[in-house]
Amino acid sequence: MSGQTAAAVELREATVAFRLTGGRTYTAVEQASLEVADGEFVAIVGPTGCGKSTLLNVAAGLLRPAAGQAAIFGAALDGLNHDAGYLFQADALFPWKTAIDNVAIGLEISGTPRTEALTRAQGWLETVGLGSFTQRYPHMLSGGQRKRVGLAQVLIRDPKILLMDEPFGPLDAQTRQIMGNLLLELWSKHRKAVLFVTHDLEEAIALADRVVIMSAGPSSRIIGDWRVTLPRPRDIFEIRLTHDFHALHREIWGVLREQVMKAYGQGGQAA
Ligand SMILES: Nc1ncnc2c1ncn2[C@@H]1O[C@H](COP(=O)(O)OP(=O)(O)OP(=O)(O)O)[C@@H](O)[C@H]1O
Ligand SMILES: [Mg+2]
Repeated sequence: MSGQTAAAVELREATVAFRLTGGRTYTAVEQASLEVADGEFVAIVGPTGCGKSTLLNVAAGLLRPAAGQAAIFGAALDGLNHDAGYLFQADALFPWKTAIDNVAIGLEISGTPRTEALTRAQGWLETVGLGSFTQRYPHMLSGGQRKRVGLAQVLIRDPKILLMDEPFGPLDAQTRQIMGNLLLELWSKHRKAVLFVTHDLEEAIALADRVVIMSAGPSSRIIGDWRVTLPRPRDIFEIRLTHDFHALHREIWGVLREQVMKAYGQGGQAA
């Protein structure tokens, strides 16, 4: 599978198991192989509990696979992935810092002088549409605005890879779409490799170059990988209305549906 130019992220038959109490293990993900090329936008979709966050954590270097490998730009990942910026579902802002200080902190920690860090943070807050909100604390911002700060916080460090775990999950449908468009605009300008986890198949198709589907756990596998050839630049409000979008959605949902039902069934038995 490798061979050409090294992928930004490559998982090779990665199996992830967790040790449970009593010495048992739970295999969350089994033999997952996935490549994200440099500059490519890949979405992972699967039912709850299937192992999406687990895969992202492997790519981030936070989890080590029990078998198989993770490689970043061709080099085996050993420890944290320093080429990646991670955007979590929950806000990761410091509540006692203003928006601008939250964005500047990553540069300051790595030794950038404070005045320069603040100037660049101001620039990024303007880029995400928050130029006049720089002195607000997180509790003085809406959920969508906090996500914008979070995006600026990650992008200011200029990571080559963006790992995003349902970053817009808690937002209302309209704000999600606005954030999706903002993300696409920034991505088309800065072209990072993106690994984007979502429950929402529509969001995945609207944003990504490829949509990868995982089966219900345990021992979840990657069971499908679709290329999204919808034209870019995309407006994710508009793209959802097109015939090609619907055709692809129907095709992928045909596979995903079964896994979602299976996951609900398991939840029902466990309850
Ligand atoms: N530290 C852990 N110890 C034991 N089991 C774990 C641990 N972390 C995750 N799991 C289990 O591994 C499976 C995959 O979890 P993961 O968080 O990756 O799912 P997910 O696909 O991200 O789900 P969701 O869509 O709900 O966020 C789940 O069954 C979960 O209970
Ligand atoms: Mg998750």
